[in-house]
Amino acid sequence: MQRFWYKCIDCGEVYDGSERIYFCPRCGGLLDIEYEYDPDASLTPWSKSFRERPLGVWRYRELLPITGLEKVVTMNEGGTRLIRCKNLERELGIREIYVKYEGDNPTGSFKDRGMTVGVTKALEVRAKTTICASTGNTSSSLAAYSARAGLDCVVLVPSQKIALGKLSQALIHGARVLAVKGSFDDSLRLVEEISRDPRFYLLNSINPFRLEGQKTAAYEIYEQLGDVPDKLIIPVGNAGNIVAYWKGFRELKMLKLVDRLPNMIGVQALGASPIYKAFIKGSDRLEPMDSVETVATAIRIGNPVNWKRALRAARETGGMIGIASDEEILRAQKTLAAREGIFVEPAGAAPIALLAKAAREGLIERDSKVVCIATGHGLKDPNVVLMNVEKPLEVEADIESVLKVLGMTSIEKT
Ligand code: F0G
Repeated sequence: MQRFWYKCIDCGEVYDGSERIYFCPRCGGLLDIEYEYDPDASLTPWSKSFRERPLGVWRYRELLPITGLEKVVTMNEGGTRLIRCKNLERELGIREIYVKYEGDNPTGSFKDRGMTVGVTKALEVRAKTTICASTGNTSSSLAAYSARAGLDCVVLVPSQKIALGKLSQALIHGARVLAVKGSFDDSLRLVEEISRDPRFYLLNSINPFRLEGQKTAAYEIYEQLGDVPDKLIIPVGNAGNIVAYWKGFRELKMLKLVDRLPNMIGVQALGASPIYKAFIKGSDRLEPMDSVETVATAIRIGNPVNWKRALRAARETGGMIGIASDEEILRAQKTLAAREGIFVEPAGAAPIALLAKAAREGLIERDSKVVCIATGHGLKDPNVVLMNVEKPLEVEADIESVLKVLGMTSIEKT
């Protein structure tokens, strides 16, 4: 591990990495983790030790802010598949399309990359209880990692607005689940207040250690492709993940492993799109949306905390923040499942929805190498699927009935 410290993203003030802070004590800004990189020394592990370890978050341990690996809370997160999608390439007329399938993670979403680092940190600071607000996946992941670490866990979720699979996970792992009569944004406001009490350790993406774990997905893509992609398309809710990938790619450049960054393209749901609106206006201000709605409940967020850096990521890399409607998201989810065999939850399909639209409108160069981040497993949200597919056909348990519904009159034996 390199020496690290916090740096405020607004005023630039730095603080010792061992302090327990979530916001800049001087101006209230969010904090980034910075390291003392010696490019030459850092390259050595990349070429030697990294390659001897399995692909995954802890392959990159020297680039993570944890000392003493023996206490790491891990289930071998990361190391997820980068799947080439040739059927989509043909259909959309784009040279190379890949899906980074984060559903492969232990609890079925990218959140595990952040929680292995964040919950290890919770142990380090001797917290008793972990806490988060969540649209679902963060609560599943935090509940699982806290259970493993022997920590109590409290999660606040918007009542009736999280997917069934995610709720079952948080409950079976033993978290105390509070269904808040309000939105995700209300829940986040409440947990921020509670976590002023040092017994609680806050693990939303305000916590910079979580983003450190999540940045490893960018390293993996670089290793899996042997290069960075031209375009990276990623769903955006609270906007932590796009910031984490951006940081991962910038570090690869700092380490002189690559000489460019991908165009970072974020996708919000049409009904929850405050960052998209700021991007389109060219504004440096976010106008939170009080009332948000989308079938992609994972990204149903009106006041995203990481909006400032998400805008920077898109603008500074020649990318953009786009939107996809519920109809486009559901169509993309179905296409990915039916044409490529990849089952993702609605939010995870948003990048494919945007890519399809951009390709049809000629907004993406045909010779591009595109990576879409599929952030969560399709089994997380079975209800949405069942509302959007044909029901199974009931048949009598005899061969005539089966043949009849299959439109056959007899079995042809060869
Ligand atoms: N995709 C999925 C499946 C998610 O669960 C989330 C966020 C995102 C995309 C967006 O990531 O917030 O970093 O921009 N889910 C959080 C949660 C908010 O509570 O599970 P982001």
